[in-house]
Amino acid sequence: MERGIRAGLPRKEGGGAQVRRPIGVLNCKTGMGKTFDIGLERLTGGSEFSIGSAIHTVHRNASRNEGSAAHAGARDAIRGALRGTFFLETFGCQMNDHDSEKVAGVLLSRGYTQVESPESASLILYNTCSIREKAAQKVFSRLGEFGLTENAGRIIGVLGCVAQQEGEEIFRRAPWVSLVCGSASYSKLPELLAQVEAGNQRVTGLDTDTDETFETEITRRDNPWRAYLTIIEGCDKACSYCVVPYTRGPERSRASDSILREVRQLADLGYSEVQLLGQTVNSYKDPTPRKMRFSELLLAVADAVGIRRVRFTTSHPSDFTQDIVDAIDSQPKLCNHVHLPVQSGSTRVLRAMQRTYSRAEYLEKIRMIRGAKRAISITTDIIVGFPGETQGDLAETLSLLDAVKYDNMFSFKYSPRPHTPSLAMSDLISEEEKSRRLALLQEKQREIQTARHLTMVGENFELLVSGKSRRENQWSGHTSCHRVINFSSQEHALLGKYVQVQVTGATPNSLLGEQAL
Ligand code: 5AD
Ligand code: SF4
Repeated sequence: MERGIRAGLPRKEGGGAQVRRPIGVLNCKTGMGKTFDIGLERLTGGSEFSIGSAIHTVHRNASRNEGSAAHAGARDAIRGALRGTFFLETFGCQMNDHDSEKVAGVLLSRGYTQVESPESASLILYNTCSIREKAAQKVFSRLGEFGLTENAGRIIGVLGCVAQQEGEEIFRRAPWVSLVCGSASYSKLPELLAQVEAGNQRVTGLDTDTDETFETEITRRDNPWRAYLTIIEGCDKACSYCVVPYTRGPERSRASDSILREVRQLADLGYSEVQLLGQTVNSYKDPTPRKMRFSELLLAVADAVGIRRVRFTTSHPSDFTQDIVDAIDSQPKLCNHVHLPVQSGSTRVLRAMQRTYSRAEYLEKIRMIRGAKRAISITTDIIVGFPGETQGDLAETLSLLDAVKYDNMFSFKYSPRPHTPSLAMSDLISEEEKSRRLALLQEKQREIQTARHLTMVGENFELLVSGKSRRENQWSGHTSCHRVINFSSQEHALLGKYVQVQVTGATPNSLLGEQAL
């Protein structure tokens, strides 16, 4: 999938400063907002065991006498002490992060309490993206941290693209897993959980032909100021390197009235920024008779009272049309930022990638965006070392960076993925050469960004403040064009507020500033 802006991931906001935040919860049916504290606030079952002692007991007994009556007793002790608690860890992209928010919402609505460590949970879930091999490996290393003895009494589940991709193979590699649910089957999650809770040891949700999108009554949101909202799931494109069409299934758009209802509820709850999500968000096709175009939907979302910023990611170049640019021009609440992955600057490689556009056609889209009245920042994704990529192809990608002058770039070494057409391609590039190409690309982008940032010194931007540094009076936030500015201010309690900041300095990845009075 085409991932969104990594710098925008909720947990990373704030320049590394960790801010404890309330957890926003939206009940879509009633629109009633609640705040849940994440912690061991409720141990159902009124057990007399403390969690620590129950875990301790199980480790001690299990290692001595696995499978014995003592072991069974200890397992029951864990079940009793931890019942109704879940731990959910997410690896991967923004879509995955948001899926986890929805999964957490489903569990909270079933009476579960979220806890911060697997040791404190009766249900342990890993939600992993499989877009590149590294992320996929992570879940297996996490699962390896549990053995049959360690997890006695706990239910372990694997969710997301890795689950979809590996399927029942996960049970073979980690027999202590009892739930495997792919991202295309999340709408069935309550049902599947009920089966697991009833003691079923091998529960799977692996359909990809679902017509439904994953809508929940309750979504637990991690970021109190920016709400993520999936408007389209799956992908109908067929990029030859990409596992998403396999793991997330075909494209399904959510009804516009349902989206707009949720946006109004989010605004009522105090969210001022919403980010519409989709692997190819601008391919949105309203399934209702209203048949709203994507640009109309953007404008309608921006119209919701209380909403100050609307973002969307990720856009596919082939479906990026003039009316989207016109909408951004006409409505300042639409953020002046477009994430438009190009993947390669060489038409030959784009063809092999089955990207549906040429270099010239992509540059035409860039010209269209640059022709807007507002300055719109443009970011991209690039893959180096695709099978058969020559030095000439790489030179074309480097020259594309010069031609476009991206505001930010996310670059990846090609990673062969199961079930993808490119897996069968020959003329593979060595890991060493991929690393060399990646370094060249990143160095060029670094130069472009540094130069661009220096021209911004002295400019004023409106920021939504989302981070507080450990250093006194230091804050950070995002501009509408999605730049991070770390700034100083004598004011207190700025989190979640909009402030004017003047840029005073620049680094390749961020800007420095101070609050303008
Ligand atoms: N190898 C490397 N990068 C990939 N991406 C998607 N699939 C692969 C792959 N097999 C990158 C693309 C996409 C981003 C989210 O991840 O650049 O836009
Ligand atoms: Fe994006 Fe192509 Fe993957 Fe679809 S198939 S998610 S368009 S990279």
